[in-house]
Order: sequence, then C-alpha cells, then structure tokens
Amino acid sequence: MQNFIFQNTTKLVFGKGQIASLSQFVAPGTKLMLTFGGGSVKKNGVYDQVMAALTGYDVVEFWGIEPNPSVETVRKAVQLGREEKVDMLLAVGGGSVLDATKLIAAGLAEPETDPWAIVLRRSASKQIPFASVMTLPATGSEMNNGAVISCRETKEKYGFFAGYPTFSILDPMTTYSLSKTQKANSMADIVVHVLEQYMTTTGQSRVLDHWAEGVMQTIFEIAPQVLADEPDYDVMSDYMYSATMALNNFLRMGITQDWATHQIGHELTALCGVTHGESLAIVYPGLLSVLREQKKGKILQFADRVLRLTEGSEEDRIETVIRYLESFFKSLGLATRLSEKGIGVETVEAIATRFTERGVHFGEAQNVDGELARKILLERL
Ligand code: NZQ
Ligand code: ZN
Repeated sequence: MQNFIFQNTTKLVFGKGQIASLSQFVAPGTKLMLTFGGGSVKKNGVYDQVMAALTGYDVVEFWGIEPNPSVETVRKAVQLGREEKVDMLLAVGGGSVLDATKLIAAGLAEPETDPWAIVLRRSASKQIPFASVMTLPATGSEMNNGAVISCRETKEKYGFFAGYPTFSILDPMTTYSLSKTQKANSMADIVVHVLEQYMTTTGQSRVLDHWAEGVMQTIFEIAPQVLADEPDYDVMSDYMYSATMALNNFLRMGITQDWATHQIGHELTALCGVTHGESLAIVYPGLLSVLREQKKGKILQFADRVLRLTEGSEEDRIETVIRYLESFFKSLGLATRLSEKGIGVETVEAIATRFTERGVHFGEAQNVDGELARKILLERL
C-alpha cells in the first residue's frame, strides 16, 4: 500500500424522509440558490419536499442543468448567483446537477475566472459552500470532490477536482421514479467506478480488494430487482449506498488506479452524445480484452472471488470474465458495441487523434495513449 492522506468532509444524511431535516444543516439566514435539472424533481415530489423543508429561507431557483452539464449553462447560473448574492448552493437532482453546482460554486468564489478555465486547470481553488439532495445513485458526486463538465462549443468533456459537498441527503425513495434506462446507465457506472479502482494489479490492499468485490457483488445481485417496476425500499437503499461507496474515495486509498475507460467514454459522450453509463458499457470489455495480459492477476482474482470460477485454463477464465461483464451490461439493456449507436471508424480515429495531440497516457501503467485507445475502440465496433 502506498502512503496516503484521506479526508472526506461530506456529512451523509441517508434514509426515508430525511429531506424534511434539511434545515438542520443550513444555518438560519443563509441565502440559498437551489439548482435543478429539467424537471424530474417536480414530477416525483422532491421539489415540494425541499421547498417545504426550507420554509423561511431566502431561496433563489436556477433550472435547466442538462445531463452531461455544459459550461454554457454554468455561466448563466454563476451570473444569477452573483446578481442575487447567494451564500450557498443546494443541488437537487442527479450527478449532472451536482457536478454543475460544484463548478458554479467555484465560479462564484472566483469571479475573475471563466468557469471553463477552472475546468481546464483541473481544480477549483476556491468555492462557496454547496450541498445536495441526490436523486440518482450513480456518480458518487454526493460524497466526492470531482465533477465532469462539457463544453458544447468545442465538444470537449473533462473532469476537475473541487471541494466536497458540505452535506448530501440521500432518500432511496427518490429513486422510485427513475426510468429503466436511467437505472441501467447508473448501475453500469457504479460497477465501472469500482473496476477502475480494482482491476489493476494484485497485492496492493487486501481490505480494499474485498471491499470493492463486495460492492460489485451487491450490484450484480440486486440489478434485476433495481430494474423491476415495483421498487423495494431495502433494495433501493443498497443500490443508492453502493453508488456512494463506489466513488467516495474510500476504495482508492493507497492504491494505483486505471480510469482509462472513463476518459475514452467521455470522448464518446462529447463527440456523439452517448450517455455516460452506456459509454462505459461499450468501452470496458474492449479495454479488458486489450489489456488482459497486464491485468491478468486481477482478472483471475475477480473470476475466483466474484464469479467463483476456479476451473479451466487461465485464458478461458479471463475470457469468461470479459464475457460476463459484457453480458451484465447487456442484461441491463445497454449497448456494448459502437455499431449499435451508429458509431464507426471515423469517431475512433477522431478520439485517437485527440489523445495523441493531447499527449495523454491514461491507466495504471500510463500506457493508454491514442494508439491504444484506437485498438480498444476498434475491438468494440
Ligand atoms: O434533469 P432532470 O429532469 O432532473 O432528469 C434527470 C436526467 O434527465 C433524470 N433524473 C435524475 N433523478 C431522477 C431522474 N428522473 C427520474 N427520477 C429521478 N429520481 O435522470 C437524467 C440523468 O441525470 P444525470 O444527472 O445526468 O445522471 P447521472 O447522475 O448519471 O450523472 C451523469 C453525469 O455525471 C458525470 C457524468 O460524466 C455525467 O456528466 N460523472 C460524474 C462523476 C463525479 N462527479 O464524480 C463521476 C462519474 O464517473 C461521471 O463521469
Ligand atoms: Zn462514471
């Protein structure tokens, strides 16, 4: 295990009816700007619960943060926040609303800097306080210090580091209104978040390996019930908690990490509009196939401990793991091939060229560059 310093400052407020406790976490007299997406929270009653809980507070509303939030929208929110002189932001919605809010918080604290410059800098040096009521378990944004923002004008999508939400309220009942497609995307995202931190090399941390395997096993086990039309509170609680645990920095203390699939996936989203979860479902089996030798030890560990597969040659077991993950994504109803999304060789070449021009080297071995990204994507046509 490598040396590390760990501090996660988010207060997690979890469970049925917890939105009603909002005022316990916001100081009296705070001027709040609430940030929202396209209206799901009005349909499922979350908006009414939040407004009832904030009775007596001075509140401004900003609507219209889109999935894969854009810097163009963030700029408008920063302007409103500045005009209204808000003290704190409360994101109410999915990961996109919260990610945008992390950048709005930075834009308000650093008025002389354009928000896109903060993203390109890859870190927010200052932010006004922000918190969330999270309605979509997927990104872990509710308890992490990352955010991913797109620039529609240049068709780019990058992550940057920010502060942690002051608090996040997670009521599993808010997930009852999610569509099958949203749940499918989110479960692919959760599993790939764990894989990005787990599927590297063996022998780095016994504790984190078992922890990561447990989170993945939970999602594999509950996925059919999460997708079912009749939601079960305990299942949706495990689903929501798994998403938070998969990416709240607990699973990556003192170990190497991959994240190449996310980087390639962000390009598919930026260039072709593929949803985040589906982009990962397409790329991940290809990455594992191309890097099977490098990741061999960990793939075999996954086969043994997660799939209980110990028979057969090493090559057969590796093949089974790759096929298992692809079938899992398919069982969620997601595409796992570029052709299913009408994406061809031109996009593969565009991504390879972008990576080469940017001089990137992703992955735990820093070997996923333009050339290797091309190889991975050609495997997914
Ligand atoms: O916009 P509204 O109307 O609210 O509808 C949203 C949106 O259309 C809807 N939705 C959210 N909660 C709902 C609901 N519909 C019904 N019932 C509910 N309870 O779902 C749609 C998708 O929402 P979005 O926020 O885009 O999804 P998600 O949470 O998956 O966030 C995806 C974004 O997060 C980034 C992704 O790249 C993508 O931009 N990521 C952020 C990370 C982070 N901050 O650490 C890490 C991830 O790897 C990821 O990259
Ligand atoms: Zn993700």
